Amino acid sequence: MATILVTGSQGQLGRTLQDAAARHPEHRFIFLSREDLSITDVAAIDAAFARYRPQYLVNAAAYTAVDRAEEEKETAFSINGKGVELLAAAAAQRGCRMVHLSTDYVFSGKGSTPWKEDDPVAPLNVYGASKLEGERRAREANGKAIIIRTSWVYSVHGKNFVKTMLRLMKEKASLSVVDDQLGSPTHAADLAAAIVHIIASGKWVPGIYHYSNSGSTSWYGFAKAIRQFTGAACILHPVPSAAFPTPAQRPSFSVMDTRKIVQTFGVDIPRWEESLRRCLQAMAGKF
Ligand SMILES: NC(=O)c1ccc[n+]([C@@H]2O[C@H](COP(=O)([O-])OP(=O)(O)OC[C@H]3O[C@@H](n4cnc5c(N)ncnc54)[C@H](OP(=O)(O)O)[C@@H]3O)[C@@H](O)[C@H]2O)c1
Repeated sequence: MATILVTGSQGQLGRTLQDAAARHPEHRFIFLSREDLSITDVAAIDAAFARYRPQYLVNAAAYTAVDRAEEEKETAFSINGKGVELLAAAAAQRGCRMVHLSTDYVFSGKGSTPWKEDDPVAPLNVYGASKLEGERRAREANGKAIIIRTSWVYSVHGKNFVKTMLRLMKEKASLSVVDDQLGSPTHAADLAAAIVHIIASGKWVPGIYHYSNSGSTSWYGFAKAIRQFTGAACILHPVPSAAFPTPAQRPSFSVMDTRKIVQTFGVDIPRWEESLRRCLQAMAGKF
């Protein structure tokens, strides 16, 4: 029985990993929230490692407020950079295998071919830069870490695009949705299953990997699929990003090539539409 410690357990991925853990009684999962363990607190990290002696660490903790990060650069870098380094170093010292999560926002978005793991990175915003710093520090402190970049994550838990759309489609007769940013939605349940699959496989190949659902769309296309699957009557209008100015600039093309994680670990990558349908079914009656 492997002991798997999960940080950031009350976030979207953390809570989805808790759902996955319930289906895997063969592993001992320890879930620690921000209150239980702040990843910027080295003494708390040491205490958690001493107490639970995990063989695996999944860092689901992060500063994820993309727009606020433009004004809170120091906090974003402290959590997504320094905090990740502290965890990575603690794991390395104890021979604990670390899975860390990163983002499609490390890319500039200036391209039209799905981004590969070793393509040049050039984040457009502070959040992306802080996550890139976390990748760098994780690799320096822990050469054996697995880093998974993901994109456009949604789930039954927390705040996300799908839940926002479901609410707005009920409240409004029409909605404008950005149509000039292309990416791949990721159902957190699929990502969580992929992480558990990698751990359970016993095969450990350190490095950076991309995981999103397969296929790609724009936010407008994503919203259209939500409307179609739920039968909502709301009228949707495609608009350019310029119609919704935000403090943080977003990449216009952040579709990632996911072949490496499939070839290395044999993880399952469902189509985004299929996974969206499953998530909406799981949400049925809740919205
Ligand atoms: N969501 C997406 O669309 C997306 C896309 C690409 C990559 N990712 C990456 O995927 C991972 C999981 O994202 P998510 O959607 O699950 O994010 P999330 O819902 O924002 O969860 C992050 C969790 O980390 C916690 N946290 C923040 N600072 C912490 C600290 N110092 N110590 C311990 N915990 C702390 C947060 O607590 P508070 O809420 O109390 O701050 C929150 O519970 C992150 O690495 C993120 O960068 C996400």
